[in-house]
Amino acid sequence: MKVLVTGGAGYIGSHTIKSLKNEGIDTLTFDNLSTGHKWALLGEKLFVGDLADIEAINKAIVYFKPDAVIHFAASIQVGESVVNPLLYYSNNVKNTINLLNAMIKNNVNKIVFSSSAAVYGIPKDNNPVKETCQTLPINPYGQTKLMIEKILSDMAFANQIEYIALRYFNAAGADKDAQIGQAYKFATHLITRALKTAKGKFEKLEIYGTDYPTPDGTCIRDYIHVDDLAFAHLLSLKALFNNTKNEAFNVGYSNGYSVKEVINKVKEVTKIDFKVVEAKRRQGDPAYLVASNDKIKELLKWEPKYNNLEYIIQTAWEWEKKLSYYGA
Ligand code: UFG
Repeated sequence: MKVLVTGGAGYIGSHTIKSLKNEGIDTLTFDNLSTGHKWALLGEKLFVGDLADIEAINKAIVYFKPDAVIHFAASIQVGESVVNPLLYYSNNVKNTINLLNAMIKNNVNKIVFSSSAAVYGIPKDNNPVKETCQTLPINPYGQTKLMIEKILSDMAFANQIEYIALRYFNAAGADKDAQIGQAYKFATHLITRALKTAKGKFEKLEIYGTDYPTPDGTCIRDYIHVDDLAFAHLLSLKALFNNTKNEAFNVGYSNGYSVKEVINKVKEVTKIDFKVVEAKRRQGDPAYLVASNDKIKELLKWEPKYNNLEYIIQTAWEWEKKLSYYGA
């Protein structure tokens, strides 16, 4: 099988490519390298291009003749999306339409799409959140992911496309061999920031809000190891060729940890007692966001292997230490 992977040089994309390679699946990554890295592909094929460039996508598809597409490429910073919404509607929605047009033109009709738990916004009392819960994004980033899901669903109805959308919860951790991991200069994610603080890159770690209605007052999230997430893409691809299609799935473990619990575990794993300060709430953070994963377990037979916060942090830490050699 041949799969075109947009954004394959990024964090989740590169882990997915590694797991596809282990299954003997041939990939071509289409990436503009704005945040991704060529080294993250571990020697797999790369076509440097931007999804804003219709000609370039068309060229890549005509050249590679993929059987399916996995679409990761997107802008992913919630805060940035609030400040610069048009960037998100262009990079995410408009560029996905470019990709879909090129796919249809060349008779490629299967796509796995990177969606996000951000489509739910702030779920009310229905946690763990199910796929059938109301989708009410609270920022442009989440809106773009939901809009793309709707486009895919309408195109599926018109028999133009067959899709699976994966709604990621909090992706974290790194490859067990520490060959790849998150390498994003402006990392905002809790575990990455905590580890960078442990290694001295930041002077202190801020806790954004300690007055939430949770047992210790800090937000609870469902942290999922990136290799389990990568595996969900492999299963989605296989499912598309076996008649499970046109569905959205949550990808998470269905259990959550608070910000304080994560920080304590980071200190325990790294054996470094870094400075932590309490700060005010960050805008748009739900108190509690945990996935119901019944649907993906039932329909895709997804069984997580790494539902273990210590393992997630340990692998991320091994990678973070390695990144230091590159001066990052
Ligand atoms: N947090 C801190 N201090 C930090 C960083 C984060 O206290 O320095 C807190 C946040 O306020 C939040 C929790 O840690 O309560 C997790 O925050 P992250 O930034 O790691 O992740 P989010 O839950 O905000 O974001 C994730 C994905 C987004 C997606 C969102 C859906 O990264 O892409 O889930 O809710 F949109």
